[in-house]
Amino acid sequence: MTHITIIILAAGQGKRMGTQTPKVLNPIAGQSMLAHTLNAAKHTPNAKYILVSPPNQKTITAEAKRVIPHIAIATQTNPKGTAHAVQIALQSTPTPQNKGHILILYGDTPLIQQSTIAKMLQTLNENADCAICAFHEPHAPGYGKLLENAKGETIAIAEDDGSPIPSHLRDTGWKNAGFLAIHAEKLTPLLPKITSDNPQKERYLTDLVALAAARGFSCRRVECEKSESLGANNLAELAQLEAVYQNRLRQKMMRNGVRLTAPDTVHFSFDTRLEKGVSVAPYVVFGRGVRAGQGATIHAFSHIEGAEIAEGAEIGPFARIRPGASIGKEARIGNFVEVKNSALAKGVKASHLAYIGDAEIGAEANIGAGVITCNYDGAEKHKTKIGDSAFVGSNSALIAPVRIGAGAYVGSGSVIEEDVAPDSLALARAKQIVKTGWAAKWRKRRGSA
Ligand code: UD1
Ligand code: MG
Repeated sequence: MTHITIIILAAGQGKRMGTQTPKVLNPIAGQSMLAHTLNAAKHTPNAKYILVSPPNQKTITAEAKRVIPHIAIATQTNPKGTAHAVQIALQSTPTPQNKGHILILYGDTPLIQQSTIAKMLQTLNENADCAICAFHEPHAPGYGKLLENAKGETIAIAEDDGSPIPSHLRDTGWKNAGFLAIHAEKLTPLLPKITSDNPQKERYLTDLVALAAARGFSCRRVECEKSESLGANNLAELAQLEAVYQNRLRQKMMRNGVRLTAPDTVHFSFDTRLEKGVSVAPYVVFGRGVRAGQGATIHAFSHIEGAEIAEGAEIGPFARIRPGASIGKEARIGNFVEVKNSALAKGVKASHLAYIGDAEIGAEANIGAGVITCNYDGAEKHKTKIGDSAFVGSNSALIAPVRIGAGAYVGSGSVIEEDVAPDSLALARAKQIVKTGWAAKWRKRRGSA
């Protein structure tokens, strides 16, 4: 099996886009740009990985190792161009550099897809010496242009740096997406020959194509979507990447049988997992780590993160489901209900205005409007346990740690400090006083009767 070395370049410029975060660590749908690129590459069979990182960037290397634990790190201290970065990567590896295939990706173009990577490597297997990933768009400033000779062979890439295009070559309208795959034994002798003789005074990896063509090596174009080549140098471009990626997620969800009434208004996380038959109303936001089972319904304006929602459960509208929440089968979480770090069993109902935090709630229990689990004493968090089929009346405060037994009733407006035994009634509120005729007398006294 061919050995593959995947090199990810992330040492150039390191623009911060006005945020404190290094450029490649800015998130798209809850995951860093770098992790997106690495995840697209990490399932390549028989591959090893090298990240070219700027010096003293522990956060970047830690993120790379989180996604691919065995990734090697090469440090480029003075970035002198993409060709220089690749050379540094190859020099950093003790294993032979002149065997197998080499694939070069950019840490700042996170939308590359696994299928495109597979196509590029496949192209090398089909007897091409070099594969260049490209999209067709005659006017696309900033991108390298693929140039061909009279025979229609791609024989050079011209960077968009003001250099003139040689008269014997034709601009094809194809643009370099930035990803390149090549046989190692073809790459290693050519790399040192790349100079910095250009307006940017950088050693461009793209000059490799002309050097390869001059030796009669074949460079084939592999088509990708333009979106795969998009990078971000400012916050507006970062938002554009987010928009493209969200759209991909929405399309994938719908292909998998998830009903989205207004797809453009729903925001997913890179790892959102919704089963077939889940229905999502307009204006719903999924943070990281959400799963929902078949037939679950998420009503409008709900915000959900780090939660498991079982089959047939209904959430919202206007629900907030926070990390560690597990919502049981056919449970019902209604408007203005917040659930955090709590397990709600099958059929639990909390239909209006409640806070459920650090709780365990048994099957078919009913949580009335305005119920609060008082889980925090100012220093520590405590648990509330509510048994199966218990009924907690509206506007009750359950001061944790506390247990409400199965089948027990808590009268509305109670402040519960002590455990309630199963099947009993707990009332913890001031007794009502009624003074007959008091109001009429009071009005008379004021002369307003
Ligand atoms: C590059 C391509 C261009 C292509 C475009 C697509 C080159 C010379 N040009 O241009 O043809 O159309 O991508 O996005 O390759 N890097 C290093 N060390 C360096 C220089 C760069 O690690 O010394 C890294 C950068 O961090 C970045 C990547 O390489 O992740 C690409 O470099 P960048 O400067 O963004 O190249 P582009 O101008 O986008
Ligand atoms: Mg770039």
